[in-house]
Amino acid sequence: YNVHHYSFIVKNTFFERLCSNKTMLTVNDSFPGPTIHVRKGDRAYINVHNEASYGVTIHWHGVKQPRNPWSDGPENITQCPIKPGKNFTYEVIFSDEEGTLWWHAHSDWTRATVHGAIVILPEANTTYPFPKPAAEQVLILGEWFKGDVKEIIDNATATGGDPTLSDAYTINGQPGFPNNCSNDTSYKLTVEYGKTYLLRLVNAVMNEEMFFGIAKHNFTVVAHDGAYIKPVTTSYIMITPGQTMDILLTANQSPSQYYIAATPFFDSNAPFDSTNTSAILQYTGNYTLPSSIPYPTLPNVTDKDAADNFTIRIRSLANAEHPINVPKNITTRIFIAVSVNQILCANASCGGPSGNRLAASLNNVSFVTPSIDVLQAYYRNLTGVFGSNFPSQPPYIFNFTGDVGNNTLYPSQGTKARLINYGEAVEIVFQGTNVGNAENHPMHLHGFSFYLVGTGYGNFNLTSSPSTYNLNDPPEVNTIGVPKNGWATIRFFANNPGVWFMHCHLERHASWGMDTVLIVKNGTTAETSILPPPTNLPTCS
Ligand code: C2O
Ligand code: CU
Repeated sequence: YNVHHYSFIVKNTFFERLCSNKTMLTVNDSFPGPTIHVRKGDRAYINVHNEASYGVTIHWHGVKQPRNPWSDGPENITQCPIKPGKNFTYEVIFSDEEGTLWWHAHSDWTRATVHGAIVILPEANTTYPFPKPAAEQVLILGEWFKGDVKEIIDNATATGGDPTLSDAYTINGQPGFPNNCSNDTSYKLTVEYGKTYLLRLVNAVMNEEMFFGIAKHNFTVVAHDGAYIKPVTTSYIMITPGQTMDILLTANQSPSQYYIAATPFFDSNAPFDSTNTSAILQYTGNYTLPSSIPYPTLPNVTDKDAADNFTIRIRSLANAEHPINVPKNITTRIFIAVSVNQILCANASCGGPSGNRLAASLNNVSFVTPSIDVLQAYYRNLTGVFGSNFPSQPPYIFNFTGDVGNNTLYPSQGTKARLINYGEAVEIVFQGTNVGNAENHPMHLHGFSFYLVGTGYGNFNLTSSPSTYNLNDPPEVNTIGVPKNGWATIRFFANNPGVWFMHCHLERHASWGMDTVLIVKNGTTAETSILPPPTNLPTCS
């Protein structure tokens, strides 16, 4: 394999958007941040210098990091933050990932501005499972807040209410039409008539799933979350925060300009940013622009059928060159009820006019981030940092039509992990609920990609639901949308020893406690055990 070196300087940079300006945290002064380029199986050493005024960590989203949780990044889960003025070199170990992934800060809400793409090319002397494109371009969907994101989440935590919504979405850092002061700075993608381009799309948005389309152009999705899929030709996609999609776009319309646009998919009563973002697809050559540039027709924000009709089409490529490895006989099954709820505070100090604050939970436990990282505590046998008693069964079969009792509305709080033996064939069933609010939850697991073998509405039923599973070519992903008032089942082999964070990728929910930790224990050999820690790990204060 090849070794790559990068230097990331995390620092404040001045930006102007939406007729207003602010300084915000970036890597190397850019938003989105720099793209990492590797080939399958390579290794990257990324030295992160923290010039911010608070601690920061970086996560390599979707990179499995075999046996190397030390460089995974979630703050106080696998490391303590890099302190202001200090640096830490992450060793990012690629294995079988191929396509597009991304990196982002994993401290508080800093990922809003601190993120970028990871491009993983095929190994030398191998090729894509599709014709070589004329050119490639990363497209990152982001979210723009006029305010300071750290203040926004700190204020929300102090009052117990909803965090302030974003002011725009962005494509490659630009809000574009129809946002204020944004027409002239739209991101422009230049194409030549007749050529095919590979677009590497990342949803780095904080709190909303997104529909995305290009006016007058169909396109073909060929990879998803760093794995190839059977080609899906479509006029729009739905992509959840955390996910990536590789898209082939042929410039086959009359040379002109066309809008590329994204709009949220949000079927819920919770408040959300309902604006649109756009970029411009610009053909080369001479032509007269139409009086109005065509805008894509995207599904309505609450159109869950449109979202489902796209998502259901995604299947692994699952051929000889790109085989899959879906567990057929499960040895460990974990049920996880996913809820938005509230915490009743003994006094007003936890915020909220009535002494309640918004919360979220997995199996009715609202996760509390420890002050020393779980990985260190596990590796060094420190007690009192986390409990290994994450509930093994849901506390109830959720009654979607019945009243919600206080026992489910008010979760307990704790730092509870689930331990799994090395090599187990694991199934996790996520059951959505409508305790506090029914929403679609993009659940993400670190350290693995897994197979989404089934999904449905209502309650998961152990007798009938498994018969609907797809075990032949399920998509291999790192983030899945658990449907609103429905369930989703994933499977994987627990073949990566380490401490791995699992959480909703809606940042609002993650900060409210919709998180837990899976600890995969060492196997019986050195090759199946966690690597020794790096010597320069940031210390915990
Ligand atoms: Cu992309 Cu734990 O996150
Ligand atoms: Cu969620």
